[in-house]
Amino acid sequence: MAKKPAADEPWLLEFPEIEAGESEPLVNPLPHPIWTENKAKLIEAYLRFFLYITHHGTYIDCFAGPQQPGMPEMWAAKLVLEVQPRWLKRFYLFEKHPKRFQQLVELRAHQPEDDTRIIELYEGDVNLRIRELLDSKSITEKQATFCLLDQRTFECHWETVRLLAEYKKEGRKIELFYFLASKWLARAMSGVRDKTILEKWWGRNDWQTLVGMKPDKCADEVVRRFKTELGYASAKRWPIFNSTQPGLVMYYMIHSSDHEEAPIQMRRAYAHAVTADQSEQTWFPGMEPQP
Ligand SMILES: C[S@@+](CC[C@H](N)C(=O)[O-])C[C@H]1O[C@@H](n2cnc3c(N)ncnc32)[C@H](O)[C@@H]1O
Repeated sequence: MAKKPAADEPWLLEFPEIEAGESEPLVNPLPHPIWTENKAKLIEAYLRFFLYITHHGTYIDCFAGPQQPGMPEMWAAKLVLEVQPRWLKRFYLFEKHPKRFQQLVELRAHQPEDDTRIIELYEGDVNLRIRELLDSKSITEKQATFCLLDQRTFECHWETVRLLAEYKKEGRKIELFYFLASKWLARAMSGVRDKTILEKWWGRNDWQTLVGMKPDKCADEVVRRFKTELGYASAKRWPIFNSTQPGLVMYYMIHSSDHEEAPIQMRRAYAHAVTADQSEQTWFPGMEPQP
C-alpha cells in the first residue's frame, strides 16, 4: 500500500488550485497525492462519478495501448471499458504501435457481447487519424464526450488538441484529460534534435519560452492556453507523483471541461484513486452500482 506522506511533505504545496476571483467552481485542498501507478484509476474513477451526472457517454483514447505490459489494472482503456454501470456506449481507441494495437484488438474481443456498444479501433498516428473520427460526425453535439490524451512527452500535436476542443459547435466541448510531462520535460526538450517535433507538440514556434521555466509554471501556461485559446470554462492541473519519491511530480494531468461539476468530480476521483489497494470508499451514497 502506498505510504501516506507526512503533512509537511512538499506535495501539499502543489495544490490546492483555488483560483480566487474565477468563475469556475473552487475545489478543496487535496488530502493525498496521487501516484503514477494510479493514473488509470483516476480516469476510471472520474468517469464513473461523472456518469452519474450524464448517464451516458463517449470515450476517446488517443494513446490507448497499455504502458505497462502485464499490468492490466494500470491500463486506462481497459478500466474505462469495464466501468459500471455500463453507461459509456461509444469508445474510439487509437494506437500507433502494432503490438500494442494488437492488445487493443484482444481487449475488444474479450468484452461481453453488447449490441448497445460501439468500440472502434484506429491503428496508426492519432494526429492523422483523429480527423477520420471527427469528420465522420459520429459524435453528436449532445453526447457527453471524454478524451484521454495520455502522451509520454511530445506525441500529441497541439493541432489534435485544437481539433478535439473545437469539434462541438453548440454543446459542451469534448472534455480533455491532457498529460503533460513534468519531471523529464526540460531534458526531453533539450534532447530533441528535430525541433519540428516541439513545434507540432506546442502548436507554435515559440516553444522556446518554456525553456528554463519551472515545471509547474509550464503546466500553468498550458492551463492558460486551454482556457484562453481553446475556450474551456475550467482547466486545472492535477499533479501525478512518483510513489517512491513523495513530492516529485512526474507529470500533470490537465483536465479541461465546460461542465461546472467537472472539477468537483475530479477532486473526488483524485481522493478516491489515491491508494493502490483501493481501500477507500468506492461508492458514495446513492451511487451504488446496478446489478
Ligand atoms: C503513455 S502510453 C499510454 C498509456 C495508456 N493510457 C495506459 O493507460 O496504459 C502512450 C501510448 O501511445 C502510443 N503512441 C505514441 N505515439 C502515438 C501516436 N502518434 N498515435 C497513436 N498512438 C501513439 C504508444 O505506443 C503508447 O502505447
